[in-house]
Amino acid sequence: MELTKAEEAMLHGEKGGAKQKAMEILVALGKIYGARRMVRISSAQISGVSYKTIGDAGLEYLKHMAALGGRVEVPSFLNPAGMDTEQWEEMGFPPDFAKKQIEILDAYSTMGIKTTCTCTPYLAGIRPAADEHIAWSESSAVSFANSVLGARTNREGGPSALCAALCGVTPLYGLHLKENRVAKMVVRVEAKLEERSDYGLLGLLVGKKSIEDGKRGEKIPAFRLAGLKPGEDELKYLGAAMAASGSVPLYFVEGITPEWNVEPDAPEVMVTQGEMDALKEKLNEADSADLITLGCPHASLAELEEIAQKLEKRPVEKELWVCVSRAVLQVARENGIAKRIEENGGRLVADTCMVVAPLERMGHKCTAVDSGKAATYLPTMCAQKLVFGKLEEILWK
Ligand code: F3S
Repeated sequence: MELTKAEEAMLHGEKGGAKQKAMEILVALGKIYGARRMVRISSAQISGVSYKTIGDAGLEYLKHMAALGGRVEVPSFLNPAGMDTEQWEEMGFPPDFAKKQIEILDAYSTMGIKTTCTCTPYLAGIRPAADEHIAWSESSAVSFANSVLGARTNREGGPSALCAALCGVTPLYGLHLKENRVAKMVVRVEAKLEERSDYGLLGLLVGKKSIEDGKRGEKIPAFRLAGLKPGEDELKYLGAAMAASGSVPLYFVEGITPEWNVEPDAPEVMVTQGEMDALKEKLNEADSADLITLGCPHASLAELEEIAQKLEKRPVEKELWVCVSRAVLQVARENGIAKRIEENGGRLVADTCMVVAPLERMGHKCTAVDSGKAATYLPTMCAQKLVFGKLEEILWK
């Protein structure tokens, strides 16, 4: 790879041990993927934050990098951690888990990384423009940045995003190059898309169709939605679900996303109402949940307003978590939306989410969700049975 003088200096240890290790990894990745050079990034979003997912080995690695003097070169945010850092005790998170989680956040903080833990950095002050190069790792954030914002990122792993943050660059390959941002399947939908949960179901189905040839993340879908105009929240649910079921890092929606670039002979696939109904039925394993969780990906202010209005009409009786970034929570506190949710039985939960929190250790057995991504991971990562449906269908189950 051609490296600049500054990159060579990092590789030879002139900028400290952490940057040296990070640059070694970036160069190795660049060679594997055939990158000619590095490209500067404007931000990083780093996964591998919850103690539940990275464990002691991950914690030791982060402490080591921090002790080597690693400091980030670009604004860098974290993925959700394993707990709400302010409410963990009253919410019943295990103290041994909390202790390790705080050590992880401290190690990241020592490296200059903002301990804003969210999968929606674009709602929390880090919103890249079209064609801007970034290194993000949480799969729904990657999908949103590439597809809805038109920014350019590969689906980084936690370590490679951290390396990119420490060096300020990432290898120039994959979705950083325009020629690779081409749809290889056209999706038509003959089904009702009324709520976010419908977009989640659609995303799960299309993600699965995209890997029918066994290759994950390579078949970029392009949607023709015939007059429908999904907003950012719907697109957020769609992308998160496709990333979960098919590792899809980029998609296009005709007339809505900034890019529309489809291979001339791309095959057409259809999603029918029958498929959507069958999947919804399959995801519903129980009549009633002991926990309701919303905000996967983390909720926007518009979603919080919708939830507040529903709860004002009928308060919730079961435990309800609404997962948000701390930045959105702060605005919701200032404008009173948070209070309206809390007065009617809901709890706003920041820094974490239903999937990376240790729900299984907190006594929960069955969780209600409206998100395709949460429905994919809760059974395997949290040993949860599922109730799946539209907001109105799950709030009072
Ligand atoms: Fe975000 Fe957690 Fe869902 S990271 S996309 S809320 S599984």
